[in-house]
Amino acid sequence: MIEYALLKADQTAAFEEMTFPSFKAALRNASPDGPIIAIGAYRGWLPVGLILAKLMTMNIEGADYQFAEVLSIWVGPDFRQQGIASELWTRLEALIDARKLISARTVYTTGKPSTEAFERILKKHGWADPIASITFFRTDTTIEGLPWLDFELDLPETISIFPWGELTEAEADQLRARLAANPDLAPLSPFEEADKIDLGTSLGARWQEGVGGWLITHWIDAQTIRYTSLYVDEGLRGMSGTAIRLMTDAIRLHLKRGHPPQALFCVRRDNPTMLKMMKKYVAPYCTSIYESRISFKPFHKPDNLG
Ligand SMILES: CC(C)(COP(=O)(O)OP(=O)(O)OC[C@H]1O[C@@H](n2cnc3c(N)ncnc32)[C@H](O)[C@@H]1OP(=O)(O)O)[C@@H](O)C(=O)NCCC(=O)NCCS
Repeated sequence: MIEYALLKADQTAAFEEMTFPSFKAALRNASPDGPIIAIGAYRGWLPVGLILAKLMTMNIEGADYQFAEVLSIWVGPDFRQQGIASELWTRLEALIDARKLISARTVYTTGKPSTEAFERILKKHGWADPIASITFFRTDTTIEGLPWLDFELDLPETISIFPWGELTEAEADQLRARLAANPDLAPLSPFEEADKIDLGTSLGARWQEGVGGWLITHWIDAQTIRYTSLYVDEGLRGMSGTAIRLMTDAIRLHLKRGHPPQALFCVRRDNPTMLKMMKKYVAPYCTSIYESRISFKPFHKPDNLG
C-alpha cells in the first residue's frame, strides 16, 4: 500500500534525488505552511515518489494573489504506472483548492520518455492544453554541415559585428535604459545570467543608432553552450542579414575553439520568423529538438475581478 505525506523540512533528505538539482535547496526548506510544498509517497518506509511546488504571489490591479507553481514530480521506475503520480497531483490540487489559490502553473520540457505520461496527468486533471514557450535545437559538430557557414554574408558598411566583451560602459548604460523603458525587450536582455556569458562566442552589432543587436551565449554545463538571446533592431531586420551574421559568426567561433562539444539554440514562441527559419534550415543539423511548455489551471477567481 502507498501512503502519502505532506513533508516537513526534516523529512525531505530521503527525497533529494527525486527533483532537479536546481530545486534541491528548495526541497530542504519544504514546510506544510509553504511557500515550498512537498508531498511524498511511501511504500512502507521506502520513499517512492515526490511532488514539489512553490506558492507565489502575483499582483493584479494593486492586490496580491497567491498561485502555485508545480516544480517537479517524480516516481521511482519500479513504481510507475500504478497511479502514484496521479494521486500526488490530486493531493497537491486539493491543497491548492483548500488554500483558495487563484491558479496553478507548470513549466516542463518535452522530448523525455515520461513526457506522454506527464501530459496525460495534466489532461486528466483538467489543465489547459500546454503551450510551447521556447523551442530548443540541440546540436554538436553536426552543425558544421549547415550551408549558411559556407557563405560570408556581407553586411552594409554601416553595420559592424563586435565581440560582446568590447561593449563600452556608455553602450551598456544606453542599453539598460532601453530595456527599462521597453518591457517587451526585457526577456531578450543581454545582461541576464552575466556570470555564465561566454565571451568567446557572444557578439553585438553596432549601427548608426548604437548597439542594435546581439547574440548572447551562456555556458550551461561543461558540455554545452546555450545560444540564449538573439535580437536585432527592427531597422536591422529583413534584408540586412544581421541576425544570420551574428549566428553564423558565433557558430564559427564556437567550432574553431572546439569546445564545449554541444550547442543549444533557444527560440522563443513570440519569434515565429526565427522559429520557421530554424525548423527549415538548422533542424536537419540538430541531434534533438524539444520544447519548453507551459500549462495552467485556474482555481479560485477573486471576487473583485470580473
Ligand atoms: C511522469 C511520472 C511522474 C508518471 O508517474 P506514474 O506514477 O507512472 O504516473 P501514473 O501511474 O499516475 O500515470 C499517469 C498517466 O500516464 C500514463 N502513463 C504512465 N506511464 C506511461 C508511459 N510510459 N507511457 C504512456 N503513458 C503512461 C498512465 O496510464 C496514466 O494515464 P491514465 O490515468 O489516463 O491511464 C513518471 O513517469 C516519472 O517519474 N518520470 C520521470 C520524471 C519526469 O519526467 N517528471 C515529469 C516532469 S517534472
